[in-house]
Amino acid sequence: MSKQKVLLAGATGYLGRYIAQELSLFNYFEAKLIVRDKHKVKFDYPNIEIVEAEVTRAETLVHLFDDVDVVISSIGITRQKDGLTYMDVDYQANVNLINEAKANGVRKFIYISVLNGDKLRQLKICEAKEKLGDYLKSSGLDYCIIRPNGFFSDMGDFLNMAKSGTVYLFGDGKLSLNPIHGEDLAKVCIDAINSDIKEINVGGPDLLSQNAIAELAFKAYSKPIKIRHLPDWIRRLALWTMRTFTSSKTYGPIEFFMTTMVMDMQAPQYGKHKLEDFFNEEAKKGLA
Ligand SMILES: NC(=O)c1ccc[n+]([C@@H]2O[C@H](COP(=O)([O-])OP(=O)(O)OC[C@H]3O[C@@H](n4cnc5c(N)ncnc54)[C@H](OP(=O)(O)O)[C@@H]3O)[C@@H](O)[C@H]2O)c1
Repeated sequence: MSKQKVLLAGATGYLGRYIAQELSLFNYFEAKLIVRDKHKVKFDYPNIEIVEAEVTRAETLVHLFDDVDVVISSIGITRQKDGLTYMDVDYQANVNLINEAKANGVRKFIYISVLNGDKLRQLKICEAKEKLGDYLKSSGLDYCIIRPNGFFSDMGDFLNMAKSGTVYLFGDGKLSLNPIHGEDLAKVCIDAINSDIKEINVGGPDLLSQNAIAELAFKAYSKPIKIRHLPDWIRRLALWTMRTFTSSKTYGPIEFFMTTMVMDMQAPQYGKHKLEDFFNEEAKKGLA
């Protein structure tokens, strides 16, 4: 049987790096990565082809999809400061990939969205990601939309606050979430290649309250636990102020964080990586 050719867009990111690693482990996949800067690829697998292109500019993608069977996209704005909006990247860049996939007879498109995005369409990031999901569903391609909970890489705010001595939470801190490690999520993405499931909600193995996450962060730095619970009106005022006086490029990521912090963010539990281990490793790096 010939190898399935998988094209991955987003390999320079936190999740994409693990997907690329995972692809390289299986000799029944042939992997190709689209990145905008080859120097940002932090691994070297001889069996993976790497090409440079600008996913936001459709014309740079032509001819890159020859013989591709499956596309995986983890393209999206997290902390990038390119002056682009979620509509430019999370929506339009992924539309460009879908169009090129269609034009080249690609079988399946796997897209990384976000947990509860369908319930949070009023937020700028979810508006773009859900619009993309709608576009993908009506594209005629086979597809899978993966909706993960927050990544371990996004729990750094807890670590930073703990390092500086106090963790600030909105409300009583009892709401829970199960963040997921990139390696565990990468396995979900790879399994989706040959599965019929169209939408997957997924989080890490441990459901933790925000207070418990804060405590793990203090433990990682061997610091005394000091959590301040702020009243919700401060959060609402901050959100209103940002939406009124800054652009969506500035308030978008904060809007998402501040909204999900007052929601139970629980997803089906999966994987083996523990947040405690991740925090301990990150704190060790920070202390070195
Ligand atoms: N982080 C979380 O907690 C979380 C939770 C749920 C869902 N998600 C979603 O999962 C996906 C992957 O997240 P991640 O944490 O791995 O993000 P990340 O580390 O920021 O990686 C995002 C990828 O998208 C690329 N990208 C962003 N803007 C681009 C642009 N203008 N032109 C070309 N490429 C661009 C980045 O390329 P460069 O390296 O060149 O910038 C990178 O390869 C995102 O769509 C995110 O919204 C994330």
